[in-house]
Amino acid sequence: MSSSLNRDGVDPVAGALLPLASIERGGLHEVEAVVEGEAESLILHCDAHGGVRAWLNVCPHAGRRLDWAPGRFLRSKDGLLVCAVHGASFELQHGACVAGPCRGESLRAVAVEVSGGEVFLASP
Ligand code: FES
Repeated sequence: MSSSLNRDGVDPVAGALLPLASIERGGLHEVEAVVEGEAESLILHCDAHGGVRAWLNVCPHAGRRLDWAPGRFLRSKDGLLVCAVHGASFELQHGACVAGPCRGESLRAVAVEVSGGEVFLASP
């Protein structure tokens, strides 16, 4: 394995974030990426139909990461993403907060696309 590959086995220089197969259907995955010139942590979600959505891993409540350890996210019994810091709950269609201290706010979406079995940041 080349040392230029990230922990998902993808060459970030080529622009791919990770193989789609790395995200289980209905699951969440965290990746590092450069968005608008800034190194960011992203939350990726693959829905039951294979559609992929991405948001910055920044909670709108207090600006903290949502995962309790890198890539380890809390989920509610009904599948909501729960911020590990103060418990805000987010639906995974639009990233909207539906309960907790930032109810009514949303995660910041990042455009992604799937091509050739890989997930990429969408071209601006
Ligand atoms: S930082 Fe996420 S709920 Fe407070």
